[in-house]
Amino acid sequence: MANLNIALQYSGINFPGHLHTLQSMHYAEEFKFHDTDILIVTYPKSGTTWMQEILTLICSDGNQAPAKTIPNWIRTPWIEHYYCEDILQDKLDNRIITTHLPFHILSKSLKQSNAKVIYVARNPMDVVVSFYHFHKMAKFLPEPGTFGEFLEKFLLGKVHFGSWFEHIKDWLSHREEFNFLFITYEELKKDLRSSVEKLCKFLEHSLLPDVVDTIVWHCSFTNMKDNQMINYTLVPNEIMDHQRGKFMRKGKVGDWKEHFTEEQKQHFEKVFQEKMREMDIRFIWSL
Ligand code: A3P
Repeated sequence: MANLNIALQYSGINFPGHLHTLQSMHYAEEFKFHDTDILIVTYPKSGTTWMQEILTLICSDGNQAPAKTIPNWIRTPWIEHYYCEDILQDKLDNRIITTHLPFHILSKSLKQSNAKVIYVARNPMDVVVSFYHFHKMAKFLPEPGTFGEFLEKFLLGKVHFGSWFEHIKDWLSHREEFNFLFITYEELKKDLRSSVEKLCKFLEHSLLPDVVDTIVWHCSFTNMKDNQMINYTLVPNEIMDHQRGKFMRKGKVGDWKEHFTEEQKQHFEKVFQEKMREMDIRFIWSL
């Protein structure tokens, strides 16, 4: 494992140095995707873990054994993490792969295949709140300072993993080039059953209604927060300080209202409108 405290700067973006190495980034950039691969793409704190769990259950036809016995980072590894190469070397099909990488790093290799790409987005105001709390517990991320200080860095794109705005804009503006599904955290929250059905349709993986029921039950926040294979309690305290917070924190839509001042809200909305002006899309959270 590389150094916990040192960031790896790659393509102008900082990534946690204990999981990302130059070699692992090159591996991701040159990865040979298969047409049967399913790729989850997210900016951090947007519902990555939730989607990993849902897809694990869909692909196992509702069998809960893999989700209850294998940690999420092994069954649905991040392509840019140093251990991914070892995990995937003997696995040729039924691969669910995850990434937080921006479009420009992954686009070349992804375009060579017809892999199914699922982009999960979340209201960035909730993302920044979740990310802020995660920074407090994750020892591989810098101390966030006050919420106001962190918010400013987030809006400037000067946080680890880069700019939320660039991430979503770049991926969505190229969606037509891929076998691509866009789904939001808010949709999953609003109607998990319909969301699972939508995912099944996209994956051409039909399931019986009672299997869908099992998946919806298994993937509720209440159940997932107690599953050690997904709630990160297996990660030692030296890496994630479990006294300073929980990975499965609140699982709510609109928690930003508990954190933003009126002034911060107005500033955020102004920046959002400026940066997202050219995007021809109405997001569910602004409806
Ligand atoms: P909060 O910090 O707002 O609670 P990611 O997996 O991309 O890092 O995102 C983590 C966020 O997703 C956390 O948000 C976590 O609680 C939330 N989450 C994970 N599983 C969830 C579920 N089943 N239902 C609702 N939210 C969930």
